Amino acid sequence: MPTILAVSGSPSPSSFTQEVLGLAARRLRGRGHPVDTLPVRELPPAALLAADTEDPAVRDAVDRLIAADAVLLATPVYKAAYSGLLKAFLDLLPQYALEGKVVMPLASGGSMAHALAVDYGLRPVLASMRPVAITDAVFVPSDAAVRGPDGRREPDPLTRARLDDVTDRFEELLTAVAPAERHAEPAAPRAAA
Ligand SMILES: Cc1cc2nc3c(=O)[nH]c(=O)nc-3n(C[C@H](O)[C@H](O)[C@H](O)COP(=O)(O)O)c2cc1C
Repeated sequence: MPTILAVSGSPSPSSFTQEVLGLAARRLRGRGHPVDTLPVRELPPAALLAADTEDPAVRDAVDRLIAADAVLLATPVYKAAYSGLLKAFLDLLPQYALEGKVVMPLASGGSMAHALAVDYGLRPVLASMRPVAITDAVFVPSDAAVRGPDGRREPDPLTRARLDDVTDRFEELLTAVAPAERHAEPAAPRAAA
């Protein structure tokens, strides 16, 4: 069974982004996929900011990402871009850390004016790490948040339907990509012509 890592790049202890990420993770778990979680805010701040990959917690987080077959990456939109916390983590990763992986970007934000922040800002960064596929991004604006039966904020039905659709596409891609592709070795250098 492919392994999935859900990475939250929100610094907030009561994060709406993490709630949205949790819904996608729950849907995948309901289909029998193990989903591990990585809230970047729980990593030691000094090690994270110093890009100290020898720090055991940072090392473990990087190793878990590299070992995963697929990654959900969630961020709040801050200052019209993805979070600095997420960037600090992405900057620790090896150049092609997403090689062979399927990636689904998710974001929450205050304004639809910044709905494309993930596509313009985060998508090129992810693409540079050579994932096998990146799904459409899911953007959940704050005004699409409603209180769920347990009192927690969750996306309204229309936004939830979009989240579910993209999550299902992520699962399709994950199961369509052969394990050999997911764990592709770096291509051998071509012989000179
Ligand atoms: C420092 C800060 C900057 C923000 N900047 C933006 C922004 O530029 N555009 C936007 O749409 N929302 C912005 N927001 C709103 C957040 O993206 C939104 O409330 C989001 O759901 C917060 O997610 P979180 O609870 O995981 O932190 C900002 C919020 C904060 C705290």
